Amino acid sequence: MHIKAQAGLAMGTTVEGFDHTTATPEDIATLKRTVYTHKIAVLKGQDLTPRQFLELGRLLGRPEVYYEPMYQHPDVEEIFVSSNVPKDGKQMGVPKTGKFWHADYQFMPDPFGLTLIYPQVIPEKNRGTYFIDMGKAYESLPEDLRKEVAGTYCRHSVRKYFKIRPHDVYRPLSEIIEEVETKTPAVVRPAAFTHPMTGETVLYISEGFTVGIEDANGTPLDPDLLRRLFEATGQLDDTFAHGNIHLQTFEQGDLLVWDNRSLIHRARHTGTPEPTVSFRVTVHDERGLYDEAAA
Ligand SMILES: [Fe+2]
Repeated sequence: MHIKAQAGLAMGTTVEGFDHTTATPEDIATLKRTVYTHKIAVLKGQDLTPRQFLELGRLLGRPEVYYEPMYQHPDVEEIFVSSNVPKDGKQMGVPKTGKFWHADYQFMPDPFGLTLIYPQVIPEKNRGTYFIDMGKAYESLPEDLRKEVAGTYCRHSVRKYFKIRPHDVYRPLSEIIEEVETKTPAVVRPAAFTHPMTGETVLYISEGFTVGIEDANGTPLDPDLLRRLFEATGQLDDTFAHGNIHLQTFEQGDLLVWDNRSLIHRARHTGTPEPTVSFRVTVHDERGLYDEAAA
């Protein structure tokens, strides 16, 4: 196994020669360390069946099965499928996922530490995913904004991006909204927390899932504070030219592992939809999202 930093880029490493069938516990520990330190590891030359992809994921942690079944791979439920390519004439997974800034499962009570993406069908033109390191973004906030964030809490919900399921057709919208709020009520967490693996402070907000900011007593604060934080961190830049934004590209055989505590990400915008399929496995590592004691 050979790890090297991605030349000329602010984050990410490439990993050559990783074979999950022969990897030692030391290899796994090294791989995880590089993910926490460099935020993204691109495992090169992977040729895996869905089942083997899941086995690889299990080496890094405990898989989380996505709570909405329509996203699940028909044979391996732990795999989340993003696809606009019918398989045997049928839709598999869900098309056009994640075209907004978010951390995976940010709206859930127990988000996982690691996301693994294994692209299957890679678009010709608009390949890649945008990332922002919210630890680095926190560090580069203007002093006064960082002061304003101190001691505040954020509310995260899936409500803006919940996708209507096939069986929702003909249901009243109010009933679907009611179901979303009951099944996945908004969660409240410190706006910034300590990353349990690195000790960094992470500003844990995203334009897609963060719907409110409040003080320690639960009193809502001016929503403009959230807007200013989104703006300062680069999330409102539709040109994707902001210095915080990293475009991670990939090619056939690449498997990306990233730090889902530090990074928010966004699928690349495409004007003309190209065939795109990717498989995702998400795993809990040995720690929770953040250190409760240090928060
Ligand atoms: Fe995502």
